[in-house]
Amino acid sequence: MSKVLIYDHPLIQHKLSILRDERTGTKQFRELINEIAMLMCYEATRDLELEDVKVKTPMEIMTAKKISGRKLAFVPILRAGLGMVDGVLSLIPTAKVGHIGMYRDPDTHEPVDYYCKLPADIPERDVIVLDPMLATGGSAIDAVSRIKEFGPKNIKFMCIIAAPEGVEAFTTAHPDVELYCAALDRQLNDHAYILPGLGDAGDRIFGTK
Ligand code: PRP
Ligand code: URA
Repeated sequence: MSKVLIYDHPLIQHKLSILRDERTGTKQFRELINEIAMLMCYEATRDLELEDVKVKTPMEIMTAKKISGRKLAFVPILRAGLGMVDGVLSLIPTAKVGHIGMYRDPDTHEPVDYYCKLPADIPERDVIVLDPMLATGGSAIDAVSRIKEFGPKNIKFMCIIAAPEGVEAFTTAHPDVELYCAALDRQLNDHAYILPGLGDAGDRIFGTK
């Protein structure tokens, strides 16, 4: 059974309410997506390993902690996942970034895979996949299956809003992948959009509607 974490932090809930509001424009929407992704990343990286280092403060020498050599890669699902990249890189600027291209067929709602470029040393890396929306779960399931073919050490999936249907499908398909969601919404509508949701994440990030 996958670990599923739904965030209840007041800062995330506050920012999410502004993000959902239909009156929020593109500029603010982009800023909020990045801020929420950054806050989520803080918790999703809680298990990063530390090592002891000696630090000379102005007062004395002490043994302090630094993140050990463990390597991370973020993999946004195009397009909307791109909106989360700057936020997570602001916390971990040395991480590598791969890309997976997926879009949902508007009639069947099935994901269509059109691009995949990952760091060459992916077998040495922990991967955090980024996509603001987990609706049917189809895109997330296919993206993670594709990434698994390259043999990363570990995969986590971070989304901003999830539908119960998507969580069920994803955790069934990938019980080994931890799922981090800022919010768990009520349901999908007939077009597989999340209710109450925030509309089309890609269109709101890139201003394409
Ligand atoms: C959205 C979203 C996810 C997918 C979620 O992308 O960013 O990738 O839908 O839906 P699912 O869980 O039912 O697969 P979309 O297909 O709209 O593509 P875009 O990011 O290029 O706009
Ligand atoms: N993709 C989105 O952008 N929004 C949804 O509600 C579902 C899929």
